[in-house]
Amino acid sequence: MAERPNKAKTDAAAWVGPVGDVWALEWRRTDRSFAGLSSHLNHAIAQAAPEGGARVADIGCGAGGTAIATASLGNHVEVTGFDLSESLIAIAGERAAAMPNCRFVAGPVERTIGAYAPFDLVVSRHGVMFFDDPVAGLAAIRAATRPGGHMVFSCFRAAALNGWASEIATAIIGEPSPAPAGYEPGPFAFADAAFTRSLLDQAGWIDAEETAVDFAYRAGEGDDAVADAVDYFGRIGPAARILKDSPAERRPAILHALRTICEAHRVDSAVDFPAAAWIWTARNPD
Ligand SMILES: C[S@@+](CC[C@H](N)C(=O)[O-])C[C@H]1O[C@@H](n2cnc3c(N)ncnc32)[C@H](O)[C@@H]1O
Repeated sequence: MAERPNKAKTDAAAWVGPVGDVWALEWRRTDRSFAGLSSHLNHAIAQAAPEGGARVADIGCGAGGTAIATASLGNHVEVTGFDLSESLIAIAGERAAAMPNCRFVAGPVERTIGAYAPFDLVVSRHGVMFFDDPVAGLAAIRAATRPGGHMVFSCFRAAALNGWASEIATAIIGEPSPAPAGYEPGPFAFADAAFTRSLLDQAGWIDAEETAVDFAYRAGEGDDAVADAVDYFGRIGPAARILKDSPAERRPAILHALRTICEAHRVDSAVDFPAAAWIWTARNPD
């Protein structure tokens, strides 16, 4: 049995530093992995955007995929993306350089958003489950939302439903990554819908509703989709963490296990893993 990996904690220091930097280098492949979810999320965002004009905030916007999709609804929509990582904000700015209705702000959103308020709509693709204090974070976002304004965000459901994490960890270390004992910022921090609902409630959001979405997490594609997936998982996610924390002599076995599980998920020129998310909607009281 190999060493157990670190828990999936991904805190602010990680995003400001190495994790954010890797996501900035890998934005095309992270966008690709989320594409099956984005179609659902972007539809929910379009439905929530007021028709006459909307000021929209994208929380934890990363490389800007959701902000850009939202700004593409038209010039009646103005989007401000907020992210901790300077590297990701730089990429987002480059991608949206030709979009006058899209801008980006670096720093912790709970401290920066107030200066740009009020917003009619707050959106996020997997950017809200990394607050050290989630109630304070969600409350700060609500305080920057106009009365009656809406929030639409996505987050992962349980790790066991997300093969890109659980199957990979099991293939490499023989068991899924251990769940933290309590709240810990990370990809699965909002997996429990009852817990997330209580956070939203404590932060003052009302009418919270969640919808389950299953999607294919595209890990690799192309002529050698397996090599693409192995390379991607070697940089982002649980396998990357395990590889980084493992002694050099153990890495070939990890890469072999990774290649085997990716091959098992290859269909023609794509490697897809099961993934499961929530799309939440909520409202700031009038
Ligand atoms: C899983 S990534 C998602 C990025 C992007 N929304 C996407 O879908 O590609 C989470 C993002 O949230 C950002 N983030 C986490 N905590 C934050 C905070 N307190 N303020 C601003 N951004 C934050 C991270 O820097 C990271 O870019």
